[in-house]
Amino acid sequence: MAPTYTLNDGLSIPALGFGTYPMTGESAVSTIVRAVETGYRLLDTAVNYGNEREVGEAVRRSPVERDELFVTSKLPGRHHGYDQAIESTRESLASLGLDYLDLHLIHWPNPSVGLYVDAWRALVTLREEGLVRSIGVSNFTEEHLNRIIDATGVTPAVNQIELHPYFPQEQMREVNERLGIRTESWSPLGKKQAPFTEPPVAEAADRHGVTPGQVILRWQVQLGSIPIPKSEDPDRQRQNLDAFSFELSDDEVAAITGLGRPDGRLFGGDPNSHEEM
Ligand SMILES: NC(=O)c1ccc[n+]([C@@H]2O[C@H](COP(=O)([O-])OP(=O)(O)OC[C@H]3O[C@@H](n4cnc5c(N)ncnc54)[C@H](OP(=O)(O)O)[C@@H]3O)[C@@H](O)[C@H]2O)c1
Repeated sequence: MAPTYTLNDGLSIPALGFGTYPMTGESAVSTIVRAVETGYRLLDTAVNYGNEREVGEAVRRSPVERDELFVTSKLPGRHHGYDQAIESTRESLASLGLDYLDLHLIHWPNPSVGLYVDAWRALVTLREEGLVRSIGVSNFTEEHLNRIIDATGVTPAVNQIELHPYFPQEQMREVNERLGIRTESWSPLGKKQAPFTEPPVAEAADRHGVTPGQVILRWQVQLGSIPIPKSEDPDRQRQNLDAFSFELSDDEVAAITGLGRPDGRLFGGDPNSHEEM
């Protein structure tokens, strides 16, 4: 099992989680139950993944108590109005069949719509009502973060951003850290273009007797970010969770960070231009 961090609201979060996109249907339920049996405690879903029902069903079927699990969902861009955000979150809970979320994130800022501050106010209300324990954002830039903090006085607990060796996000990691926000990494392995054969990754894997995937996830842990790898394969699920039994040297961490490149982002657009509906 992964150790935990304490968030800026005093609550704890596992240091590594399980991504559930794009899994749906009965096979998703059994894959997520197996992930929990393997030792994952953080489950990452979203309205837009269309699998909140499956995640909730997996929570009920798993042998682990609800309060030992950490369930994250995300508010979609089309529900950014204050009332819509409240309603959307209640629908998420109904789909999941759960009484509360451990963490709810604004999925994308969608700045052209201009309602992410209203969405943030709604998340603050939902936290006060106890429907959501911790609140955060995803794909927010420094400007977006400053706006919601200035408007409400409430700092997100988490900012979930694209982060992998080809896109190491030095600047946003520094911004999050300065504001006291825990960084979480989506596509933490780099998805299909994962840099498994790059020398800094492959050579570190040989030296430590682990797989390239484990090296990348360990790099994430040593950056202080929470990776949420997705895998449907039992062996890879087990390997990915085992990022805590070895340590990379500072030079190894720096060499992997050095794989960052200008075209490393998986999404063509940045959060200012990409809009998630
Ligand atoms: N907030 C956002 O905007 C946002 C955007 C995208 C994703 N996410 C979240 O982040 C999660 C993870 O991102 P992701 O699924 O895009 O990327 P990822 O976890 O970096 O990569 C997943 C891919 O890598 C494979 N894989 C997993 N472990 C491996 C290993 N040890 N060795 C080799 N291949 C491995 C998986 O295949 P197998 O299943 O066959 O193992 C899958 O094809 C998502 O599930 C979702 O929850 C959030």
